[in-house]
Amino acid sequence: MKQDMIVILDLGSTENTVIARQIRDMGVYSEIHPHDITVEELKALQNVKGIILNGGENRVVDGTAVDVSSELYNCGYPMMAIDHPSAKCEQQLTELPSNEVLKKFVFDTCKAAPNWNMKNFIEDQAELIRSQVGDRKVLLALSGGVDSSVVAALLIKAIGQQLVCVHVNHGLMRKNESESVIEVFRNQLHANLIYVDAAERFLGKLENVSDPEQKRKIIGGEFIRVFEEEARKLEGIDFLGQGTIYPDIIESGTKTAKMVKSHHNVGGLPEDLKFELVEPLKQLFKDEVRACGLELGLPASMVYRQPFPGPGLGVRCLGAITRDRLEAVRESDAILREEFEKAGLDKKVWQYFTVVPDFKSVGVKHNARSFEYMVIIRAINTIDAMSATIERVDWDVLQVITDRILAEVENVNRVCYDMSPKPPATIEFE
Ligand code: XMP
Repeated sequence: MKQDMIVILDLGSTENTVIARQIRDMGVYSEIHPHDITVEELKALQNVKGIILNGGENRVVDGTAVDVSSELYNCGYPMMAIDHPSAKCEQQLTELPSNEVLKKFVFDTCKAAPNWNMKNFIEDQAELIRSQVGDRKVLLALSGGVDSSVVAALLIKAIGQQLVCVHVNHGLMRKNESESVIEVFRNQLHANLIYVDAAERFLGKLENVSDPEQKRKIIGGEFIRVFEEEARKLEGIDFLGQGTIYPDIIESGTKTAKMVKSHHNVGGLPEDLKFELVEPLKQLFKDEVRACGLELGLPASMVYRQPFPGPGLGVRCLGAITRDRLEAVRESDAILREEFEKAGLDKKVWQYFTVVPDFKSVGVKHNARSFEYMVIIRAINTIDAMSATIERVDWDVLQVITDRILAEVENVNRVCYDMSPKPPATIEFE
C-alpha cells in the first residue's frame, strides 16, 4: 500500500469501523487490526503514520482483558487511546473523538497525507494483482452481482486476458440479466468470458421439488458442479478471484488466512481443485466497492444493483417451479423494476420484487371465467436485512404496475401488495 495509513487496533470496541470510515472519509486510508499484531507485522503494512487504540470501557475481547504489548507502545508511532486511560500513551480520550479531534490527530500529529481515493486504490491494487499473479491465470465466477462485477473489472484492468470469467445462467436470473453481463464484460470490457447456459439442467433438477430448503440445496449444489466442470476444462489456472469485501473480513475476525482452499470460499469445490485466492476488494466497504466500480467504468445499473438472492427467481416462483409461473415472475419483476425506476423509487427502496404462488384464483377475463395465478409485489426497506419495514408505495404507481402486469403478463389475473414487515415475515417468501 503506497498510501499513508492510520491503523486502528481492536481492543474490544464496537466502534472501530465507524472510526475507520471517518478517517477514510477524510481521504486517509485506515485499517482495523487485532490488538496482538506484532511490531514486525505493523511495519510490514508500510506507510503506517499512526495508531489508534480503541477499546470498550474494559478493553475486553472475547471475554478476556487485553492490551497491546510494551514493544508496540514503544515502537515510535504516534498513538491515541480511546476510552481507556493509559499512562503509556501520549494522547488519551474517554469518549469517541469528534471529527475535529480525529483530524488533528491524523493530519497534525501523524502528518498523514490525504491520498486515499479510488484512482490511487485501483492503481495500487492493479500493481499488487500483477505482482501476485505474474503471467498465470485467474478464474472468477461472475454472477453479475456488485462485488463479483467490480472484482472482474479490476482484474481485467490489471491482467486482461489472464482473467477467465465464468457466468453460469441457471435459468433463474432476472430478465436480461445474463445478456447485460455479456454486453458489459464481453462486448465493452473485452473480457475472456465463458457463458454457460445451464437453464435446462437446473430446471430439470428442480422439477416437482416444492420444499424451499431442498430447492436451495439443489440450486447451490448444481451451481458448484457446473462451475467445477468449467474449471476442469481449463488449463493452467492457479488463482481464484473472490468478491470478499471488508465487512466479511471484519466479521470473521481481523486476521485473514492468505492461502485458503477454494472450497471454503466457493462453498464446495472438491479437494483437488486448489487455488490461491485473489481478493482485491477485501479492504473496501460496500459503498467504496460501488465507487470503485464506477471509477472502473461499470454502468450505474450494475454498481447500484439491488440485492438479489443466489437462488434467484427460484425462491420467488413459490413451491415446485413451473415454466409458466417462472416466466410470470420474470416478466412482472421486469415491469416492477421499470416502473420503480420511472418513479425514482429504485434509488429510495432497498429491495423490491414480485412473487408468484403456486395456486390459482378465480377471475373474469373477456367476459368468461378465468382461473389463473396471482402476482404479489413486495417492497421493503432495511439497514442490515435482519429486520425490514414495507415501503408505502404511492397508490398511483401501484395502479400503473398492476395494470401493466394484468395486461402484459400471461396466466395472471390478480395482483396483491405484501404489507408484512420482517419479523414476523422474512424478506423473501421461501
Ligand atoms: P430473508 O428472506 O432471510 O432475506 O429475510 C434477507 C436478505 O437475504 C437475501 N437472501 C438471500 N441471499 N442467498 C442469497 O445470496 C439466499 O439463499 C438468500 N435468501 C435470502 C434476501 O433477498 C434479502 O436481501
